[in-house]
Amino acid sequence: MFTHEDLARLQAQSLKMQGAIRQQTYSPEHEKTLRRFSSWEVGELIFKVNQSTLRGRLAADPSLPQGQVEEDGRQRWYSLDEINELRRKLKVNRKSLMPPRPTGKRALRAAIANFKGGAGKSTVALHFAHAAALDGYRVLCVDFDPQATLSHSMGLSDVDEEYTVWGIMARDLIHETERMNAAATGAESGTALPRRQLPAAVTDMGLADLRVADFIKPTSWPTIDIVPSCANAAFVEFASAQYRHMNPEWSFFAAVSRYLDQIPDDAYDLVIFDCPPAIGYQSMNAVFAADVLYIPSGPGYWEYDSTTSFIGQLSEALEDLARFRNVPAGTMNLPKAFTDVRFLLTRFEPNNDLHRAMQSAFGKVFGDRVTEHPIEMTRAVEQSGRFLSSIYEIDYRDMTRDTWRRARASFDRAYEEFRDHCVAAWEKVN
Ligand SMILES: Nc1ncnc2c1ncn2[C@@H]1O[C@H](COP(=O)(O)OP(=O)(O)O)[C@@H](O)[C@H]1O
Ligand SMILES: [Mg+2]
Repeated sequence: MFTHEDLARLQAQSLKMQGAIRQQTYSPEHEKTLRRFSSWEVGELIFKVNQSTLRGRLAADPSLPQGQVEEDGRQRWYSLDEINELRRKLKVNRKSLMPPRPTGKRALRAAIANFKGGAGKSTVALHFAHAAALDGYRVLCVDFDPQATLSHSMGLSDVDEEYTVWGIMARDLIHETERMNAAATGAESGTALPRRQLPAAVTDMGLADLRVADFIKPTSWPTIDIVPSCANAAFVEFASAQYRHMNPEWSFFAAVSRYLDQIPDDAYDLVIFDCPPAIGYQSMNAVFAADVLYIPSGPGYWEYDSTTSFIGQLSEALEDLARFRNVPAGTMNLPKAFTDVRFLLTRFEPNNDLHRAMQSAFGKVFGDRVTEHPIEMTRAVEQSGRFLSSIYEIDYRDMTRDTWRRARASFDRAYEEFRDHCVAAWEKVN
């Protein structure tokens, strides 16, 4: 016979062992680590300086990080921390190796958004984050998609739902409701504004006490952090609708924007959002917080169709928000205005006539809003995607070097264009 007491005893036993058992089943291969980068990559692909110049400089100054020699013995291999130290300490031809960043500005926020699943959003977000980190930037990713592709790709598979965008939104609801109630109490008049009472189910979750940093998790890249998502966060859309009902004056769409405003301006350079394939509370938070909107699209006719309907629906949703009445004082401006909007073709095959025709159609319709460099369809990304890694993380010795280089070159070109747009937009950020 087993009663609830026996079950409770079994649970207590299990809880005691939980940590130890998890460690046994979580094999070390699952713990993501970042590889080192060869002196060839550091010179030619990362710093873009002459390799023998770089070797000479390193040899002349033993206080600089010297990397490690691997078994093949020919090259030195550097960690990203070492690369960043070199970047800070070295000047080549009197030029700094630090990437451009306007002084006194907060991090630039870019949303990778489209309602079409499979458009390449998560792949673009992952590769841009990695390319930016190799370019010397400090990156914060925010995963708005409960499918959590980006979080999994960055090695986060064990996430509590309260530490996701949902937690940020619920915490914001509590804080904003308190602020509104305090303002209502403070207002001297007989026409006191109604006080809003949130149900204990919301206020007792302990979310109000979480600090800004609690939502930010480190990744295997020393200069990339992430606000992760998890499959359990799939209920967020449903919960958000209820929250809005509890306090209709709550500017629900600005929760993540307000959250990001609390991060010190100089903590990061770029914030990259991976968006869910649907319009809703989470995607509205993403686009509302974004300075730059990047819209990836596949190169087919149906993808052109759904991208068209995406911008239509987005426009309607933003027009709706523009009518929002209770705009809190601060940085929130309505209507929402992006500093830049671009379309990026993905999974593009340069030798495919249909793809080229669609590229020119995109160009005719959207003009210079279409980026010059599409992201090409590559086997390397298909393969590396299966291992939840970017082309930057894959060691080129594990692949045909040409295949790796072609794939990387395509992402590099698209990233550099993205970076140039971001740097231009940055000047216009508060
Ligand atoms: N440039 C590319 N080359 C090859 N495969 C790609 C490329 N971009 C995306 N894919 C693959 O297409 C699928 C969907 O991409 P994903 O980035 O997850 O789309 P989304 O986030 O928009 O749903 C994934 O399996 C991914 O590996
Ligand atoms: Mg995705």
